[in-house]
Amino acid sequence: MAVGIFDSGLGGLTVLDACMARLPDVPFKYFADSAHAPYGVRDSDDIYTLTTAAVGRLFDEGCDLAILACNTASAAALRRMQEGWVPRDKRVLGVFVPLIEALTERQWGDNSPPREVDTKHVALFATPATVASRAFQRELAFRAIGVDVEAQACGGVVDAIEDGDMILAEALVKSHVDALQRKMPHPDAAILGCTHYPLMQAEFQAALGEDVKVFSQANLVAESLADYLERRPEMLGQGQATSYLTTGDPGRVSDRATQFLRRKIEFQSV
Ligand code: DGL
Repeated sequence: MAVGIFDSGLGGLTVLDACMARLPDVPFKYFADSAHAPYGVRDSDDIYTLTTAAVGRLFDEGCDLAILACNTASAAALRRMQEGWVPRDKRVLGVFVPLIEALTERQWGDNSPPREVDTKHVALFATPATVASRAFQRELAFRAIGVDVEAQACGGVVDAIEDGDMILAEALVKSHVDALQRKMPHPDAAILGCTHYPLMQAEFQAALGEDVKVFSQANLVAESLADYLERRPEMLGQGQATSYLTTGDPGRVSDRATQFLRRKIEFQSV
């Protein structure tokens, strides 16, 4: 029984960690495509090719359900995968919908027409590819009316985190928040639309100020996975223990992951 969790690198560990806390008996198989990160500066064909290769590997490893714990892949590849690539007996879920449902005060799977919500001014921080896809705005428009979204493409943040250069990451977060605030001085809420960014959540919150509600995906995705598995327990797949795969250097990736999650994580080469 293993649920696959995929990201271009270390960001999806924020989602994995929340899923492990919420579902302690479920084994996970984490796949970090570290050799090809960051995805956020790639075009959508490239992101599609890399994401299908990684998720195909998770299926080969016995996972029946894979979560794209990567907004860039969810934005650029998920729909295309679901339309023509995912085998009939497998499922791939993204990370947008739980977040947008939380922002728009909806229960899981509430597909009623769009309505007014309390949040009116939303700052979206994401990778260049996610911002260019406008996928957040599209998902939001299905559920809410009258919400003004200002998006900031946060170039460089994922690279700095993957390199473990947290001083650079913090400086970049400050400058991206500054740039966003020049376009939207007083957002009510901010979305951390990249799974790497919760690793910098305190820095985003400090730069935005305490009045801004910061939404990040980890707990929301864990909750919606728990709900999904309750309805579809057969999607648990094969496997007994949580394990970690990377296309990068396993020693280096393990060290960073251990630093971020503050517990020993050992990656193996794919
Ligand atoms: N963590 C990914 C996301 O949520 C990553 C980005 C990247 O590789 O640029 O978008």
